[in-house]
Amino acid sequence: MLTLKNIGAGYGKLAVLNNISMTIRKGEFVALLGSNGAGKTTTLRTIAGLVRPAQGSIEFMDRKIDKLTVQQITGSGISFITDDGCLFSGMSVRENLMMGAYLVRDKPRKRLLFEKALTLFPRLSERLRQPAGTLSGGERKMLAIARGLMSDPKMMLIDEPSLGLAPLVVLSVFETLKGLTGEGVTILLVEQNVHLTLQIVDRGYVLEDGMIAVEGSARELLASEDIQRAYLGIT
Ligand SMILES: Nc1ncnc2c1ncn2[C@@H]1O[C@H](COP(=O)(O)OP(=O)(O)OP(=O)(O)O)[C@@H](O)[C@H]1O
Ligand SMILES: [Mg+2]
Repeated sequence: MLTLKNIGAGYGKLAVLNNISMTIRKGEFVALLGSNGAGKTTTLRTIAGLVRPAQGSIEFMDRKIDKLTVQQITGSGISFITDDGCLFSGMSVRENLMMGAYLVRDKPRKRLLFEKALTLFPRLSERLRQPAGTLSGGERKMLAIARGLMSDPKMMLIDEPSLGLAPLVVLSVFETLKGLTGEGVTILLVEQNVHLTLQIVDRGYVLEDGMIAVEGSARELLASEDIQRAYLGIT
């Protein structure tokens, strides 16, 4: 579904990612882990077209996407949910959701996506007229994910959805995401919350200084104390 081959990328002269290769299959739930500054967000930005790779190639559904615009990449079925949610705070919850579907032309489809988003996040349906800026932190995270779903994505890149959320809410968000992968949506999830993440995803990649240090099934990563100590800051 998504293949990164030998990706090098950075900001101006600053090289951040070095020789990153990953393969993610349809419906897989994959975590991208690593310490602060390792390059996790940069990896998602590079896939989403916000950072241009200096080396390597990215293929999504058998099509090269590394030279496409951000809008073309969104249109091809990739939805990027940033860690700050990037909501329009003066606009209502409903308007924010509708903005997420700006590329969906089919009206009944739009309606269906809207209803599905509200079924997944019922708290939002009670707050449709409320300005996004007045939502609680957790509600804002839910809105960001729900808005990402409004573009009818085949793949979601999600940056630290657990940031600032209570553990119970994190669990419920993760379970919602797991449910989406069950429906065939592919998810690449960036997380600091390593233990919880490895209990829910299928596989993980660990980034260190812009390179992939380890990859493996969630079970392998959870079982290896060496990996946890060396790369994930767990003792
Ligand atoms: N816009 C930018 N301009 C210059 N350097 C940047 C920019 N964004 C990120 N960097 C640098 O790139 C490196 C990787 O940053 P990135 O945001 O990808 O890390 P991360 O793994 O997401 O970290 P965190 O866990 O703290 O979110 C860091 O050293 C950072 O300072
Ligand atoms: Mg980050």
